[in-house]
Amino acid sequence: MAESTETVPKLSEPPKSSEPELVLVQNPPSKKTVCVIGAGASGLTCTRELVSLGHKVMVFEESYRIGGVYTKSYDRTMLTTSSVLTAFSDYSTGLEDKPKFYTDEDYLMYLDGFAQKFGIYDHIQFRTTVVKVGRCLATNKWLVTTKTGAYTWPHRSSFLMPAKFSDELRREVNEVHGAKTLKDFYDRAEKEGFENVKNTYKYDYYDHVTGEKQTMCPTQIDAGVTKTYAFDSLCVCTGTNTWASLPRFEGQEKFKGSLIHSENYKKPEVYRGKRVLVIGAGESGSDICNEIASEAAQVAIVVRNKHGHLIPRKQTDGRVTDLNTNRCRYSNPYCLGDWVGWANQHAKRFVALNGSGDGKTDEDRQVLAKIGELNLKQNTSAFSKFGCKNEGFVTAMVTKGTELHRDAFHLESNKAVFRDGSEFVCDAIVACTGYRNSFPFFEHPDVRDTVFHQKAGLRGKDIAEHVKNPRLNYKQVFHPDFPCAELGFFGFARPAFGSIPPCSEMQSKMFAMVTNGDLKLPSPDEMKQLCLKDTANYEWRFGYDAKRVKGLVDFQLYTDDLAEQMGILPPLGKLFFSKPKVWYKLMFSAFTMHQYRLQGPYANPKVAEAVYEKQPVGDFLECSITAAFLVTSKILSLIGFSDFTPNNF
Ligand SMILES: Cc1cc2nc3c(=O)[nH]c(=O)nc-3n(C[C@H](O)[C@H](O)[C@H](O)COP(=O)(O)OP(=O)(O)OC[C@H]3O[C@@H](n4cnc5c(N)ncnc54)[C@H](O)[C@@H]3O)c2cc1C
Ligand SMILES: NC(=O)c1ccc[n+]([C@@H]2O[C@H](COP(=O)([O-])OP(=O)(O)OC[C@H]3O[C@@H](n4cnc5c(N)ncnc54)[C@H](OP(=O)(O)O)[C@@H]3O)[C@@H](O)[C@H]2O)c1
Repeated sequence: MAESTETVPKLSEPPKSSEPELVLVQNPPSKKTVCVIGAGASGLTCTRELVSLGHKVMVFEESYRIGGVYTKSYDRTMLTTSSVLTAFSDYSTGLEDKPKFYTDEDYLMYLDGFAQKFGIYDHIQFRTTVVKVGRCLATNKWLVTTKTGAYTWPHRSSFLMPAKFSDELRREVNEVHGAKTLKDFYDRAEKEGFENVKNTYKYDYYDHVTGEKQTMCPTQIDAGVTKTYAFDSLCVCTGTNTWASLPRFEGQEKFKGSLIHSENYKKPEVYRGKRVLVIGAGESGSDICNEIASEAAQVAIVVRNKHGHLIPRKQTDGRVTDLNTNRCRYSNPYCLGDWVGWANQHAKRFVALNGSGDGKTDEDRQVLAKIGELNLKQNTSAFSKFGCKNEGFVTAMVTKGTELHRDAFHLESNKAVFRDGSEFVCDAIVACTGYRNSFPFFEHPDVRDTVFHQKAGLRGKDIAEHVKNPRLNYKQVFHPDFPCAELGFFGFARPAFGSIPPCSEMQSKMFAMVTNGDLKLPSPDEMKQLCLKDTANYEWRFGYDAKRVKGLVDFQLYTDDLAEQMGILPPLGKLFFSKPKVWYKLMFSAFTMHQYRLQGPYANPKVAEAVYEKQPVGDFLECSITAAFLVTSKILSLIGFSDFTPNNF
């Protein structure tokens, strides 16, 4: 960060001498200064949008590299959303005609390309933790206190150097130095436990900005420099999967084996020959269950209600399934959603068992058929249940004899006992029970009781409590008591089907427009009313899931809603007549953010159309079924049955 942008503060309350140095970030002419916390996918797109409009942005990132959760995930992580569905609309790999699933390392390289292209690295201060956020009521500035020297344990991604470095350096760091460090780290983790080693291990790494060798030591933070910066706006991009949610299970105190949360799971080898219980069947549970089943003597997975609605990564023809996460499907009205799902499940089960399906083995067919059977059994669809977009635990059931329990249980010293009387003897438990939202910097002892907003009577701890439920923020982004986009949250809307980073892109575009004065938010009271309305809608729609996963949204409804506010909804009617090929792709190919670049302030129709030209359409059978439902609902709505009105169609 260039020193020249930092000037002596002119705040109403000068800091006391014992307080950290105070830095007022200089505003560019008629623009804002913005603090972004976190350089995961959300922080990167947020920075890109604000910088593109000329605002002064500083990003604080605890880790020494970009990428957030993908810099901590387990060894065999493969995204469940394909390369097309996860893409940002202004950074293309040119491979839209060949959608694939990124590994975490592939996706980190994608994010690196994005960050390089838009010069985002220049704005980031790495190894810098935001420890406290306060507010100066006299100047309406956010006071962001940071501390340098943050510790990050070594992960494969630590040694994955950005593409700007020479192949020689990248190979040396990754294959020689990184491999050696990781081997040593995991040897120790095996003896002492990953949870114990991950916060104490000292090692050398290569700085991802300068390429220089550095030392990572857990005690460096003790000598870290503390500073407080003053900003006009605050963007919180700290991730919805950062804080593990580990409930206490009945009888847990009696259990003698190991019990970890999925955030501490890295490799299946640790479970070689053991009997392992996996709790929870979201995407972590499903992936991890299948990995462990390849090493363990026996695995069981338990769901207390219903597992996520299952969609395999790939379908019978070997193409990525989320090409079917398209506008045609999600334009269907909610009242028809479960029927659309029901028809699709039957058709796909039939095709899996009887259809041609190039290159599919008998095992693949059985897995696909089992997915249909399990979804039908619990009577869920992609319209009413969060998704488990990987077939992991079903593969484990079909190929490795993993048991599925759908029952409450309690633990005893060496087993889980289910309510139906069955038991599973086990040595280890992996709780894949998801994550919770937490914002410790608003709860720091110095700020938790100080007033942040005089009129609304908000204290730090009130903000921390409020934002644990993203639905209390307008469009899950804007804190309603700060109506000029002074406080925003990015990445906290989780689409039931669909991808988080593109949602963050849309949130960032809207935030940037409000920051720039190009869009006005409703009044605080109106925003609060609208939040209640949106919440009621999602709770009606997703029921229990919307209460547990507070940010759960419908991908299309959510991004269309943001697009409508910004005036960038795709002009479907016009396109149908003027560019029928683009319209066709828009309806039947993966639901990507390029569609919002066809008109309005972010328009770049040439780029959007070029992407659609390449992007393949979804599965013929599935598209035909969803189209038949959509046309029927349109006709019904036109003859007066308003409940059947399609969404934006
Ligand atoms: C194993 C796994 C696989 C996933 N796969 C997919 C997928 O296929 N598709 C999909 O859409 N989503 C997936 N997700 C969800 C994933 O969380 C999002 O895709 C994405 O990471 C969201 O990015 P983010 O920037 O909002 O949050 P994060 O990636 O969590 O980034 C938050 C950043 O904030 C930093 N930070 C936090 N607190 C502070 C602080 N106080 N000071 C400074 N920095 C701080 C963190 O270090 C981190 O870098 C997956 C999640 C997991 C756990
Ligand atoms: N490969 C990938 O792309 C990948 C891998 C992992 C995670 N992710 C992403 O990361 C996010 C988190 O996924 P996740 O699987 O970790 O969490 P999740 O989707 O929230 O699923 C949590 C699971 O744990 C269960 N659970 C929660 N509390 C429980 C309790 N007290 N007792 C028993 N079961 C309990 C839930 O059951 P109920 O539904 O009954 O509450 C649910 O099945 C998602 O956005 C997901 O898409 C992606």
